[in-house]
Amino acid sequence: MFERVDYYAGDPILGLVEKFNADSNPNKVNLSIGIYYDENNKLPVLECVKTAEQRIANPISPRPYLPMSGLPGHRLACQNLLFGADAPVLQEKRVATIATIGGSGALKVGAEFIHEWFPKSKCYVSDPTWANHIAIFEGCDIEVGTYPYYDKSTNGIKFDDMMAFIGQLHKHDVVLLHPCCHNPTGTDLTQAQWDALLDVIKERELIPFMDIAYQGFGQDMDSDAYAIRKAAEMNLPLFVSNSFSKNLSLYGERVGGLSVICPSISEAERVFGQLVYTVRRIYTSPPSHGGRILDIIMNDDALYQQWVGEVYGMRDRIKAMRLKLKSVLEAKVPARNFDYITNQNGMFSFTGLTPEQVERLQTEFGVYLISNSRMCMAGLNVDNVDYVANAMAEVLKVE
Ligand code: LMR
Repeated sequence: MFERVDYYAGDPILGLVEKFNADSNPNKVNLSIGIYYDENNKLPVLECVKTAEQRIANPISPRPYLPMSGLPGHRLACQNLLFGADAPVLQEKRVATIATIGGSGALKVGAEFIHEWFPKSKCYVSDPTWANHIAIFEGCDIEVGTYPYYDKSTNGIKFDDMMAFIGQLHKHDVVLLHPCCHNPTGTDLTQAQWDALLDVIKERELIPFMDIAYQGFGQDMDSDAYAIRKAAEMNLPLFVSNSFSKNLSLYGERVGGLSVICPSISEAERVFGQLVYTVRRIYTSPPSHGGRILDIIMNDDALYQQWVGEVYGMRDRIKAMRLKLKSVLEAKVPARNFDYITNQNGMFSFTGLTPEQVERLQTEFGVYLISNSRMCMAGLNVDNVDYVANAMAEVLKVE
């Protein structure tokens, strides 16, 4: 009966984590998945999260179904963080926001909505992008193409090619964008480039879909949301999927949100209704625990400030690791330029290693990168950074 069912080769990121876990090399280092580990190589529980957990646990309360759209405080937290609490689009009630099962859930619900209401739209993603972007949109029967983005020869962005490509797309085509900490390259547009790109998107009447999973890990909470706020200010229709997996270190709780900026209140109400209906058809309503943590932290001034400080602490530790890795590599491989390591933002660095070099790192040294050469800098710490730098230098030597 199931002979015709295709074999699933596994996920390029999650499959690697399984391989890492099974590796018996005592020196192994996991630089594959986008997870932040602290200086002791531990997954942190943020202090603000501990406080919120204590409030939830005392007293232990019943667990009703949440509304299909999630907790109101969860939705408000997404809106305030993405658009800024005093944003006109929020005051004008033109943003339809639902809580979602992580950022992936937000992308799925958004893509389902687009497939239903814009059935002719194609979706264009950056070359390269997070592999699951393509899988999620294709999984909703949307045709996916790529726009030029990363320039391997300069470790920068092919901005002119990107603009020319996006400038010829059709009305209502979807352009999937990373407002900060581009995954996998760590290479972001400047504010001036965002301004120019959003002008083209407006002129062509395209639909921007911004996926933000690393807010706070790039520059700061506000600057990382620059593109989102600029699009809001320009009155563009806009989809935003956001995730709290990384910046609340709540990976397994699957806390995210989907927001859609609409031209009017009545359209926002209709869009909200359809998003909710989409949720009902897939999973009815989100789980409550992560949403309650988020609600408590984001809607309490002191806890919010504490959270921001904790995110910046993670951001700064990653930056320190970038500096350290770069300095060891520069000393060991002087012929090669490693500026990209400190120029790139967020958790990832696109190392430019060949698939063979990535393979050697894994088999000979137990150092795991994604095969496209993406390295998660948040897996480095003072104890393993020299080992990783030496391993990289070794595989780069025989180029
Ligand atoms: C990543 O890119 O490593 C993370 O976003 C985790 C994932 O789900 O792929």
